[in-house]
Amino acid sequence: MTTASPVPTAPAPPVGVVGLGQLGGSLAAALVAAGRAVAGWDVDPAAREAAAARGVRITRELAGVVVLAVPLPAMAGALDGLDVAPDATVTDVGSVKAPVLAELAPVLGGRYVGGHPMCGTERSGHAATDPGLFTGARWAVCLEPDTALPRWLRVAEVALDAGAEVVPATAAEHDEAVAAVSHVPHLLAAALAAAAGEAGPLALALAAGSFRDGTRVIGSDPAFVTAMVQGNAGPTAAALERVQAQLARPWPELVAAGHAVRAAAPAGRRTVHVPLDRAALLALGRAGGAVTRRLAAFLEGWVPEG
Ligand SMILES: NC(=O)c1ccc[n+]([C@@H]2O[C@H](COP(=O)([O-])OP(=O)(O)OC[C@H]3O[C@@H](n4cnc5c(N)ncnc54)[C@H](O)[C@@H]3O)[C@@H](O)[C@H]2O)c1
Repeated sequence: MTTASPVPTAPAPPVGVVGLGQLGGSLAAALVAAGRAVAGWDVDPAAREAAAARGVRITRELAGVVVLAVPLPAMAGALDGLDVAPDATVTDVGSVKAPVLAELAPVLGGRYVGGHPMCGTERSGHAATDPGLFTGARWAVCLEPDTALPRWLRVAEVALDAGAEVVPATAAEHDEAVAAVSHVPHLLAAALAAAAGEAGPLALALAAGSFRDGTRVIGSDPAFVTAMVQGNAGPTAAALERVQAQLARPWPELVAAGHAVRAAAPAGRRTVHVPLDRAALLALGRAGGAVTRRLAAFLEGWVPEG
């Protein structure tokens, strides 16, 4: 049996967060609380002040693991004017991965490892900072064929320290998956709300739980949602077509099919130990599992069961 003891590893590198809004401000605060050394920068002085008050060292000089937490259209230029250590690993929290990989890999090469925490609210800006935002959330950390595993691990450790569980996936796999569970739901929420708006004030006055739950995300910043769905246009259009095909089914059949997915959801989790190996990690992600901590020579995680 393998002994599960914490690893005596090199001290965790510092983390630099670029963009201290909802995601970046929350990550910086969570990492400070976890005892990591955190530096950060934002173009907005108010965001810098709020982060400094939470223990973030405000500077343009960043090293260790540098996390880009800026809006998607700002990703490509996010490091402009910053002094980033030449050996730093750069990651991001952008909601789409293939376009950011296409922008950053030519500049950063193997130093770039994409990421995406599956959390956040419809609020934005530093006032939405919540150090508990990542607790228990899934955080995709991308493994491309040329990703250096030690750099992947550094990024995974940032996500774990913030309280998240790490899901290994390629950028393309990630984009296809989130099209179905995030980007299409954003479009459907907008469609539901627009149709209810056309139905008139009586309908809106009677709207209750199912309408509220189905449209919660329409409060998100429209620029954020637009950048997300357009940045993942191909997979999102394909996922939307699958939803349209579902809607064309006879209603009793459709309702039963949706309920069956819920009813078949795994009831439990089985703990697994995974070597630090690309194929093994990707297999864990494809099985619906996640990494929860790093141990001596391997990673501990779980896969769905039951
Ligand atoms: N909001 C969500 O639910 C959510 C969830 C997961 C991932 N994301 C991703 O996280 C990223 C940030 O989203 P957010 O919701 O935190 O946005 P936000 O608007 O709350 O914060 C963005 C911050 O970046 C700063 N900024 C903009 N350009 C900059 C630059 N060039 N250099 C430094 N700072 C800059 C802004 O001043 C702002 O403080 C986006 O890429 C988004 O796709 C968002």
